[in-house]
Amino acid sequence: MKKTSPVSKQKLSKSKKVLALVASPRQSGNCELFAKEISRHIEGTYALKLIRLTSLNIKPCKGCYACILDKPCPIEDDMNFLLNKITEADAIIITSPVYYLSANSAIKKILDRGFLFYTVLRQTYGKPCILINFYGIKDRIGVAPQMLETMAVMLGLNIKADLNIRAALPGEAVMNKANLNKAKILAKFLFSSKQIKRESGCPFCGCEIVRVTKGGFICTLCHGTFRTTAKGSFVKIKAGGVLGPLDQLLHHKAWLANMKNKFLAKKKKIVRTIIPYKDIGQWIEPANKETVE
Ligand SMILES: Cc1cc2nc3c(=O)[nH]c(=O)nc-3n(C[C@H](O)[C@H](O)[C@H](O)COP(=O)(O)O)c2cc1C
Repeated sequence: MKKTSPVSKQKLSKSKKVLALVASPRQSGNCELFAKEISRHIEGTYALKLIRLTSLNIKPCKGCYACILDKPCPIEDDMNFLLNKITEADAIIITSPVYYLSANSAIKKILDRGFLFYTVLRQTYGKPCILINFYGIKDRIGVAPQMLETMAVMLGLNIKADLNIRAALPGEAVMNKANLNKAKILAKFLFSSKQIKRESGCPFCGCEIVRVTKGGFICTLCHGTFRTTAKGSFVKIKAGGVLGPLDQLLHHKAWLANMKNKFLAKKKKIVRTIIPYKDIGQWIEPANKETVE
């Protein structure tokens, strides 16, 4: 067997592991090409691994709370594979096409299994990431950015940059100089201590989708509250408690665990309540339906 020299060992250990989570089913589409383009500008040695999220088998959460209570998830699918690969990576690039004013549903499927994020949070917390949505029609990005942000925030990732790139046809994202330049800049930021801050959006987290109240706005991502001045600048009112140090994120897990206790305490009443509804209506489904466990 060939011996590894100390020098190549050192090189290997210094090699950055970059993971691209590509949420587009389109091969050689914008999500894939742009993630690869960013990687080409990473300084030093690196290994780029890509996962096509739309090819993963991600089943729906059953809401059993096993993972919240530190027991294994009973669902057998690709979530463990995905979370393991995220924990192994030094940096993550998440790309998604905008589909009907949302990110691709692969992202939502993963978010729906987000209780599992707590099982890896200690390893994923603070890992740098870049989030990019690709879209075809001016301003029609809907809630797509917020979906990628939610995934990053709930995994405790450090968002270095968060942007939307207009590119409709496959490959269009890497066909113009301005975008190629963006890829270069993003590669620099991925492994630097700096981040590209949004000029607009929630003053706590940058999310652009808010709930409107009488006194101002509630951010739909971090739940921070803020208002605007007559001149249009933002004034923070109160942080929302969703973003923050690891302990704070794990505190929410403890709150969820207590919900299971509340359920157990109320179980008899819950069962008595649901029984009269059990046989109302008729469930219908396609004749040749595949069973989803
Ligand atoms: C089913 C479908 C829905 C789409 N919905 C939107 C949309 O709501 N807004 C938009 O701007 N572009 C929309 N697009 C365009 C894609 O976001 C765009 O082509 C993107 O570059 C695709 O990325 P990809 O090449 O990595 O697959 C849609 C495309 C498809 C196929």
